[in-house]
Amino acid sequence: MPALRALCGRPVALRTPPPRFLALVVLLLVAAAHLSYYGPPQSARLPARLPASLPTYDQVADAVKHPAAHVPTLDALPEIPRPFGPAVHQPPVQPNSTATSSYRAIEWLADFKWRNPFSSAVAVDENRAVLPPLRTRPPVYTYYDAPGKQPRAVAEAEQRLLLAWRRAWWAQGFKPQVLNRREAHKHALYLLVQRMKLDAKTETDMMRWLAWAHMGGGVLVNWLALPMAEYDNPMLAFLRRAEYPKLSRVHTLGNGVFFGEAAAIHGALTKVVNHDLLKNVTANIDKITQLSRKEGGAVVNLLPAADIAVDQKADGIAYYTAETMSTKYGTVNDKLTNTTQAEGLQLLASLINSHLHLTFQERHPEGVAIVKPLPDHTTALMFEATQIARNLTQCPSSPMPKSCPPNRPKCVPCDVNKSMKLQEFPEFVNTTKFFTIGTVPHPYTMTSLHYTRDTLDAGFLRTMAVRNQWIQELTKKSVGKDKTESYRLVQFKELVAAAPPHTLWLTAERVTQHDLDWIFGFDLPQIASTTKEPSSPNDDSQLIIFPRPDPPTPIQGKEAPDEIWIKKEEIRLGKARDVLKSKDERVQKIVDEVEQWNLADTEAWKFARAYSARRRMERKKWEQDEQDFAGSEKKAGVR
Ligand SMILES: *[C@@H]1O[C@H](CO)[C@@H](O)[C@H](O)[C@H]1NC(C)=O
Ligand SMILES: *[C@@H]1O[C@H](CO)[C@@H](O)[C@H](O)[C@H]1NC(C)=O
Ligand SMILES: *[C@@H]1O[C@H](CO)[C@@H](O)[C@H](O)[C@H]1NC(C)=O
Ligand SMILES: *[C@@H]1O[C@H](CO)[C@@H](O)[C@H](O)[C@H]1NC(C)=O
Ligand SMILES: *[C@@H]1O[C@H](CO)[C@@H](O)[C@H](O)[C@H]1NC(C)=O
Ligand SMILES: *[C@@H]1O[C@H](CO)[C@@H](O)[C@H](O)[C@H]1NC(C)=O
Repeated sequence: MPALRALCGRPVALRTPPPRFLALVVLLLVAAAHLSYYGPPQSARLPARLPASLPTYDQVADAVKHPAAHVPTLDALPEIPRPFGPAVHQPPVQPNSTATSSYRAIEWLADFKWRNPFSSAVAVDENRAVLPPLRTRPPVYTYYDAPGKQPRAVAEAEQRLLLAWRRAWWAQGFKPQVLNRREAHKHALYLLVQRMKLDAKTETDMMRWLAWAHMGGGVLVNWLALPMAEYDNPMLAFLRRAEYPKLSRVHTLGNGVFFGEAAAIHGALTKVVNHDLLKNVTANIDKITQLSRKEGGAVVNLLPAADIAVDQKADGIAYYTAETMSTKYGTVNDKLTNTTQAEGLQLLASLINSHLHLTFQERHPEGVAIVKPLPDHTTALMFEATQIARNLTQCPSSPMPKSCPPNRPKCVPCDVNKSMKLQEFPEFVNTTKFFTIGTVPHPYTMTSLHYTRDTLDAGFLRTMAVRNQWIQELTKKSVGKDKTESYRLVQFKELVAAAPPHTLWLTAERVTQHDLDWIFGFDLPQIASTTKEPSSPNDDSQLIIFPRPDPPTPIQGKEAPDEIWIKKEEIRLGKARDVLKSKDERVQKIVDEVEQWNLADTEAWKFARAYSARRRMERKKWEQDEQDFAGSEKKAGVR
């Protein structure tokens, strides 16, 4: 029974309306709301004409070719209100462009417009740093076929040498890969060669070429041939270009280095297997063995001389041949006997590592510089940088500390009494004679340390804190006074991303550094002599270790702070790290305010952090791909 109510004095019957009617009302309401919110259909409201300053094709093409060139900016398009959903298309997220972190995810975008001072202008998303596109690494191959029966210690020592080989080439911008017989097996000529019943040495040489041909050519080097030169050494620069017009070997390096295109290698191999001497191996075995002992190895000497060019410029690569070992490195060579093979190989690894380290030291004749902008109250912040700098300037541990690399007989060996300089500066000094190490702090960390405040708030920022102090101080002398923060930022980004790198930028919030050996290409000394004189780790060891350099003297006019103050800085640094990790909304709001207050410092931090995260990821991924092959960290028992 419907209820009776009075309307204008007359009773009305109120009944629930039928469901169809209800649906119609709801629909009408939604349509009305939609119209009043969006206005009439959009085609009528589109901008009448596009802004006049759209870049021309030529300008864009120019910017692509010369990323530094100015990219004309677009006038902002008239806003089209879209209350739901983003106003612009998000660029597709590039694969593997994020890394987790206990602070916040590290995200990046590789784009040729990376020289834009502020990433947000290119990347849309606030947190994403725009990095330069990754440099392609040309592959460099080596062939390693482990002999069947080998004492475990010897096998391990060889794996570690292979790892050293991979690291050294990686640091020079290559993609080092260790090939083995299985790659040779994939080549069409494998069975033919295998049936020839060649002597072991000749066969290995043939297999090496077959494996190389299977990979499609490129650079083939012996695993005892390592790059030991400045990054832009002509030989290394040429190899990095990955264009090899002629199949070539390198004079004085014997069978150490070859380069060529796949077709040329294949042609050469076809000629070799059809060589007259190989028609009847049994009859010619002596001649073949003789040929394989000549410079360049069996394949080279079975080829007509015109088929393989001999390159003369060879000073970039150090090759530790048996002959070099016996003439130059007697101490190590004496241990490379059947009974002390493992020990000998270990010493060889130390010798090679010391030569790589020595090359680094010689390339930076003015030593290592630690940049410490705003030096008051930031000693704790520089702890990692100082550790690394001290180890870098220490004389390398070596069985033969007075020896030089095979490719640079006139080097200057490290001398404890005149070891590499280690200095601290309050700003960046722009010369490649230094290797510079810096720590990039988040502006929250910097502000908190600099003003010795455990907590920050908006009021303090506005009344006391100077904006972007870190980047200002860092570039105070190297960049002219009249330059803007944006200009300084771009200069800083260029430094971080430079190749060859003469700087290393750590982030203050990250406490461990795992990639240094891949960045430098060698291991930093991990042990030091306990006295002021060189010594050995123990009585049996042939290794000579050196004293660890003292921490750098403080910047002129500053005193080394007392332990107790450094402790306080450490505690404050820990608190700042906690704040940056915090998920609490109020805390995040303050961090956000600090970032807004210091846009340039924040951008520098984001960039340096993303750059090193990407470098780490690139390497880790490579290690993962290679883990089943000889010379991987897994096989060498490292980490
Ligand atoms: C991204 O990383 C994963 C695992 O780290 C890997 O399997 C994948 O191949 C990577 N993708 C690209 C495009 O590098
Ligand atoms: C190879 O040479 C040996 C000795 O000269 C000879 O006995 C043999 O028949 C030759 N084999 C072939 C396949 O020509
Ligand atoms: C060392 O090994 C080689 C080949 O395996 C062998 O010819 C030589 O006699 C060995 N020397 C010693 C001292 O055992
Ligand atoms: C370093 O100098 C000290 C004193 O001048 C000297 O006794 C020592 O032999 C030197 N060490 C080296 C390795 O030259
Ligand atoms: C360092 O010097 C080079 C050449 O003199 C210059 O191109 C570069 O911009 C400078 N970088 C910084 C950060 O001052
Ligand atoms: C530097 O050397 C010391 C020992 O002298 C070692 O404890 C430390 O781990 C090394 N640091 C790095 C970064 O290699």
